Amino acid sequence: MCAIDFEPVVATERLRLRKPRRTDATQIALYANDFDVARMTTGMPYPYGLDHAEGFLEAVSEKDFRREAVFIIDHPDHGPIGVIGFDAKGSEIELGYWIGRPHWGAGYATEAAKGALVWAHQTWGRRYLRAGHFSDNPASGEVLCKAGFLYTGDVELRKSVARGGQATPTRMMVWLA
Ligand SMILES: CC(C)(COP(=O)(O)OP(=O)(O)OC[C@H]1O[C@@H](n2cnc3c(N)ncnc32)[C@H](O)[C@@H]1OP(=O)(O)O)[C@@H](O)C(=O)NCCC(=O)NCCS
Repeated sequence: MCAIDFEPVVATERLRLRKPRRTDATQIALYANDFDVARMTTGMPYPYGLDHAEGFLEAVSEKDFRREAVFIIDHPDHGPIGVIGFDAKGSEIELGYWIGRPHWGAGYATEAAKGALVWAHQTWGRRYLRAGHFSDNPASGEVLCKAGFLYTGDVELRKSVARGGQATPTRMMVWLA
């Protein structure tokens, strides 16, 4: 049974955050098969093939949008350029995202993060969210700061699948509505 009763869509100035579809698999696999993308995430494997993208899309189709959300970051000219979502970690909800390398540096991650935060606030009534970035990923720290997150001062060790399960210092941040 499908756990959602609506199709979340967030329109930002240049992007649309929408529900993932099976047909996104090819482009997701194309951009995700990049070590510099995968190594900055906890869960993405590398190499990342079409089967990984299909498995990912299958798994997210089962998510309950009342608690967790994954959006494709869709560009009107380029199609899917990345992924952004909220993951439940125990009682906490954490923001995560990635953008395909050809589209880095255009402000898309920041724009998507701001849109997703407004969605979480308006749809879920969330007033508090967490995020973390590996300490060797200052670009993500910039994105989170520009989206309104603040450093908590906590550094957790989190494993990265693409780094072979290596525990990596992760700077934790918080966003308050
Ligand atoms: C991190 C990532 C999401 C950024 O996406 P993006 O669309 O290029 O981000 P934006 O353009 O919105 O902002 C990036 C900011 O980081 C800054 N930046 C880039 N490289 C940097 C570096 N090495 N050190 C410090 N800041 C850096 C940019 O200058 C920009 O800030 P500015 O707009 O003030 O100039 C993208 O590179 C990515 O997907 N990386 C791999 C996956 C990942 O890191 N996911 C996040 C896991 S926590």
